[in-house]
Amino acid sequence: MSVHRDVKKVTTHILQAMKSRGEKIAMLTAYDYSMARILDAAGVDVLLVGDSASNVMAGHETTLPITLDQMIYHASSVVRAVDRALVVVDLPFGTYQGNSKLALESTIRIMKESGAHAVKLEGGGEIDESIKRILKAGVPVMGHLGLTPQSIYKFGTYTVRAKEEEEAAQLIKDAKTLQKLGCFAIVLEKIPAHLTKIVSEELIIPTIGIGGGGHADGQVLVTHDMVGITKDFHPRFLRRYLELFDVMKEATEQYIKDVKSGDFPNENEQY
Ligand code: KIV
Repeated sequence: MSVHRDVKKVTTHILQAMKSRGEKIAMLTAYDYSMARILDAAGVDVLLVGDSASNVMAGHETTLPITLDQMIYHASSVVRAVDRALVVVDLPFGTYQGNSKLALESTIRIMKESGAHAVKLEGGGEIDESIKRILKAGVPVMGHLGLTPQSIYKFGTYTVRAKEEEEAAQLIKDAKTLQKLGCFAIVLEKIPAHLTKIVSEELIIPTIGIGGGGHADGQVLVTHDMVGITKDFHPRFLRRYLELFDVMKEATEQYIKDVKSGDFPNENEQY
């Protein structure tokens, strides 16, 4: 039996079962109703309402400016669209770091106001109190290690993380801490493939890679990158399945021509 085909609703337990059976988890980002309908209909296992909405939806340079209210707006739009996928929402920058009470309050707002199924937080041992409090309230938590974009000003660049032994050892330690705390999965962003392999083999919970190579238990991409809506972003890890920017641009150019020439609307396109 394939979990992917047979499951009507994906839960955190299903993701665990998928790891146990060696069945890969497919995750994508979504920020709005229409896109989420398409991705859910295609059978994606997890939809992440990522704070990458700050980049791809709002045009900010980093993920830092997006607010909790904006994340809730995006998340509620996605939840309304979904029949099958597990919906995970990023806690945005400034709503959980260094304050576990705030972390729980932010989480409760997301869960109550959007109807999402789980939250994702960036970081390891340093946010353990926040993770503990959220889990105690009964909300599933996904971790996120490696390149954590909310810390971009600390890193200084979006380059591959944990290439050096010390940072790699810390990442393995953090991954084990997140598992011990009770996280149901961990995103591993932009780390060497051999490190993803070690973490994925040592953990019981699933790992979801983005730029972490093929050994992760699942993969995630930003949907706008995957379908080529974003145009000038070409990291090595990205596989584009469409060139939607060009397709939509051509369609729009044709529409403009048709309007200007009077070809649109024709007799069958009016009342
Ligand atoms: O915000 C996001 O889209 C993410 C993914 C890149 C994992 O965190």
